[in-house]
Amino acid sequence: MKKYAKILSLALAVMLAVGLFAGCSQDGSNPSTNPSTEPTTSTEPTNGTLTMATEAGFPPYEYYEGEQIIGIDAEIAAAIAEKLGMSLQIDDMDFDSTITAVQTGKADIAMAGMTVTEERMKSVNFSDSYATGIQVVVVAENGSVASLDDLAGKSIGVQQNTTGDIYATGDYGDENIQRFARYADAVSALSTGKIDAIIMDNEPAKSFVAANEGLKILDTEYAVEDYAIAIAKENTDLLDKVNAALKELTDDGTIPGIIAKYIPAE
Ligand code: ARG
Repeated sequence: MKKYAKILSLALAVMLAVGLFAGCSQDGSNPSTNPSTEPTTSTEPTNGTLTMATEAGFPPYEYYEGEQIIGIDAEIAAAIAEKLGMSLQIDDMDFDSTITAVQTGKADIAMAGMTVTEERMKSVNFSDSYATGIQVVVVAENGSVASLDDLAGKSIGVQQNTTGDIYATGDYGDENIQRFARYADAVSALSTGKIDAIIMDNEPAKSFVAANEGLKILDTEYAVEDYAIAIAKENTDLLDKVNAALKELTDDGTIPGIIAKYIPAE
């Protein structure tokens, strides 16, 4: 009896997957598809839930559209979960809680445009990298910072515990750093002249600059980094599975497609 039920649900899952696939292929060829419509897949999950810790104020990697968290990371995680036969649950929290969430088993993965660093590798394992990030400096168009040379002694905003925070603190001194939980708050502090610059990742920077009058990104890049998925040290089984899924999803064009959808080539 049990066996039949299993076979039946397997058949159902296959039918669903085929149906979904057929439905998707047309969508994928249309670059103007609204990202909100179908980022998460709904193949019958059989292997439980993959929990992802993130800080969802980081467009285009993770951000809210209404109640839903969408973006590059959200879609790649959904594609990985689908490959593993799992459903995906995304938990939004402060960025500096995401690694702890993974370490304590509250989340299976942390995916947050997270840069691979030596320091973080002491606490978690990282998957293969799926994207590149660049730290840039956002300033007011008519403000006092026109180049990197002007940054010394200025008030610099960062998101707490990001690599931007680490670089800025190291280079300009703790007394000059203003730490925010959300980039949106750093951006309004910059817009209202409470701080002079923000050091942050380039794609989110572009998206905040596009949404806020009077801000710009300095030409000089601050640092180039690799983004990867953080997984608990002891969970090497999941690490292997995630790396295998990342490889397949890269080779079959899924990940390049997701990135191109959110970051159109200039
Ligand atoms: N790439 C930077 C880091 O790893 C910033 C990431 C911030 N991500 C976020 N979802 N707020 O430190």
